[in-house]
Amino acid sequence: MAIERTFSIIKPDATKGNHTGGINAMIEAAGLRIVAQKRVKWKLADAKKFYAVHAKRPFFKDLVKFMVSGPVVVQVLEGNDAVKKYRDIMGATNPKEAAAGTIRATFAKSIDENSVHGSDSIENAKKEIKQNFKAKEIVG
Ligand code: CMP
Repeated sequence: MAIERTFSIIKPDATKGNHTGGINAMIEAAGLRIVAQKRVKWKLADAKKFYAVHAKRPFFKDLVKFMVSGPVVVQVLEGNDAVKKYRDIMGATNPKEAAAGTIRATFAKSIDENSVHGSDSIENAKKEIKQNFKAKEIVG
């Protein structure tokens, strides 16, 4: 297994619920290292750019509105097989379908307010990390 990096967002429902520490504890317990992290408030343009791939989906408008409704914590996670490992511990997109013990089963309210985002491929992780962090902000 190769050491990889993946991109993570702790979403507004989770920052509002004060679950940043709880989510970070689950990330670290899974063996992933948080090698970059910052709490920011996205503008609508940031959310639209990040989720541009979903622009034609019926949930796009609600998604971007939600992503600017409060602070988000953007992160770079590093470890063996990081992209898949993080998706495994996040659980299914819809928390109703997420396995017990996953981040979404523990903290998320709905498919819209689902607490976390994680890259779905190494290629997208590279793109998402570059969009959100300067190289010098990542300290492995
Ligand atoms: P995320 O992994 O951040 O990627 C896109 C987000 O859109 C997803 O998590 C969900 O929070 C949200 N979303 C809302 N409805 C749907 C849907 N039907 N399918 C996929 N994602 C959805």
